[in-house]
Amino acid sequence: MRLVVLTGAGISAESGVPTFRDAGGLWEGHRVEDVATPEAFARDPDTVQRFYDARRRAAVLAEPNPAHDALARLEGELGDDLLVVTQNVDDLHERAGSRRVVHMHGDLFTALCNACGARKPIAGELIDRPPCPECGERMLRPDVVWFGEMPYELDLIEETLFTCDTFAAIGTSGAVYPAAGFVMTAAEAGAHTVELNLAASDITPLFDEVRHGAASLVVPEWVDEVLAAHA
Ligand code: OAD
Repeated sequence: MRLVVLTGAGISAESGVPTFRDAGGLWEGHRVEDVATPEAFARDPDTVQRFYDARRRAAVLAEPNPAHDALARLEGELGDDLLVVTQNVDDLHERAGSRRVVHMHGDLFTALCNACGARKPIAGELIDRPPCPECGERMLRPDVVWFGEMPYELDLIEETLFTCDTFAAIGTSGAVYPAAGFVMTAAEAGAHTVELNLAASDITPLFDEVRHGAASLVVPEWVDEVLAAHA
């Protein structure tokens, strides 16, 4: 069995991390164009740094919930046959114990140096303009993929989708590509596809199987079933 699980903001919602689109399309009171584009950063870096510094502080206080725990348990049984691809920039999968996690939209806990391109763990706040640990320049930005930028690890993800036999999407609205297209890639490769989400998403009709409910309930149930079928 080879399984790819795509996660979105909905899996972290019950940990207290706000989703993007459930609150009227605003990101914690900000318009996307003001905080999540390279142009916004060029125009007003302080606003962008403060926004991500605040999200990082909030993520530190959040705890993994039973959905993150269930995926870590699944990896414990399936090992390398499971890949979690997350659109989330929090570290709740890792703190639940998952190790095979690809952060396709980047990571709140690393910084990207605009001078040398290094991606390094962050200590402190980027609004303070710390030097890059690699080159010493004070040009660090959040290591988060903004609109108009290329997500990370797309080759690895695509390769894994081509060879998986089950694809699950958890807590994602299907509004942002390329992640929203992964279900089609997996289906074309012959995988069984399942959506686990609070409510119908933009791409629900594309899945073979749909389970609606809070991630903390439906994900552990689904993981139990997958493991029972695998035993
Ligand atoms: P969204 O905010 O677009 O969607 C969250 C989804 O989670 C919705 O479909 C909700 O119904 C569902 N949801 C909410 N609470 C839930 C719960 N307790 N259990 C299960 N599902 C729940 O978030 P994403 O799809 O992750 O990109 O957004 C995708 C990308 O859009 C993000 O990674 C971000 C944003 O632009 C970048 O930053 C590049």
